[in-house]
Amino acid sequence: MTPGLASALMPLLRGMDAEAAHGLALRALNFGLAGRNAATDDPVLATDAFGLSFRNPIGLAAGFDKDAAAVLPLLRLGFGFVEAGTVTPLPQPGNPRPRLFRLPEDRAVINRMGFNNGGLDAFRARLAALPRPLPGIVGANIGVNKEGAVPERDYPALYAALAPLADYIVVNVSSPNTPGLRDLQGEERLGAILDAIGRARAGLERAPPLLVKLAPDLANAALEPLVETCAARGVSGLVLTNTTIGRPEGLRGRHRSEAGGLSGAPLRDRATEVLRRCFRLARGRLALIGAGGVSSGEDALAKIRAGASLVQLYTGFALSGPALVPRIKRELAAALRREGFASVAGAVGTGA
Ligand SMILES: Cc1cc2nc3c(=O)[nH]c(=O)nc-3n(C[C@H](O)[C@H](O)[C@H](O)COP(=O)(O)O)c2cc1C
Repeated sequence: MTPGLASALMPLLRGMDAEAAHGLALRALNFGLAGRNAATDDPVLATDAFGLSFRNPIGLAAGFDKDAAAVLPLLRLGFGFVEAGTVTPLPQPGNPRPRLFRLPEDRAVINRMGFNNGGLDAFRARLAALPRPLPGIVGANIGVNKEGAVPERDYPALYAALAPLADYIVVNVSSPNTPGLRDLQGEERLGAILDAIGRARAGLERAPPLLVKLAPDLANAALEPLVETCAARGVSGLVLTNTTIGRPEGLRGRHRSEAGGLSGAPLRDRATEVLRRCFRLARGRLALIGAGGVSSGEDALAKIRAGASLVQLYTGFALSGPALVPRIKRELAAALRREGFASVAGAVGTGA
């Protein structure tokens, strides 16, 4: 089935409870029902970041495939990279349902999933079972359990366990749905966690690039010390941003007052603003992945021009379906050419 045909099934999924639809979509992916976009990518989309080569800069953001259960079919849809996770050391059920809400009028979602996942051992086994070489890049996004977490112990252990299997690893300290997690974004605490990961990395045969994922709700003044903390500790990049606990004015969806992280169109401009600020602060020391409200090639190019070397999406993909992936790539390639850019890299930061 092609992504276009698969997208024709989207009205069915839209009629279902949001989390049930997500579960069904993952199963459909694994049955090969969601289609393939096997066409080779336009060469203008090929790009490098943190030492890895991407066939295109459009990735699936963390949280869609928390258990690394559908990495191969997701790459086959045409994503240049898939970030699996967030995975925690031990399995945990997450928050009570309902915990995932669509706001279709706002092209947005609110979630308070709470890191529901099957834990490190199952995640690692799935990554190990993937046929290599994969048709794209696979990242692993790591987090801590709700109960009994010791971040300076847990993040290094997760990093070390996944280092042989992931192309890059993201320290997630920005989910709003695990109490206390975002406090780890303090400069000193993050520094201590990164130092602990650094000690673990020193003993490893293979140490994939390390990234840090930040929240859009950080004060602008907090960004400079965080960028310096990361740059000083050998971090390769930042993922900007996670969901927001803010509720911008004008939301219309009936679920707009639900607790949790808001994603999609209403997050886009703040996420791009954080990206632009971090690009200026990083002065080439960190590669940036832009996420938040991307649903078109124009959105992707706006992130790239604000400083993103790569772009991720979740909500646009969840609301529109698999046909969005080839469409964004087509639109981005056309927009790059129209603006006179010969490559993605040539456009990075040109609007910062
Ligand atoms: C239902 C849902 C679950 C998510 N789970 C995670 C997660 O486990 N880890 C993480 O780092 N980000 C998670 N995110 C955040 C996304 O990776 C992304 O940063 C954010 O949604 C902004 O992109 P978007 O507007 O394209 O959705 C989740 C988002 C949604 C909507």
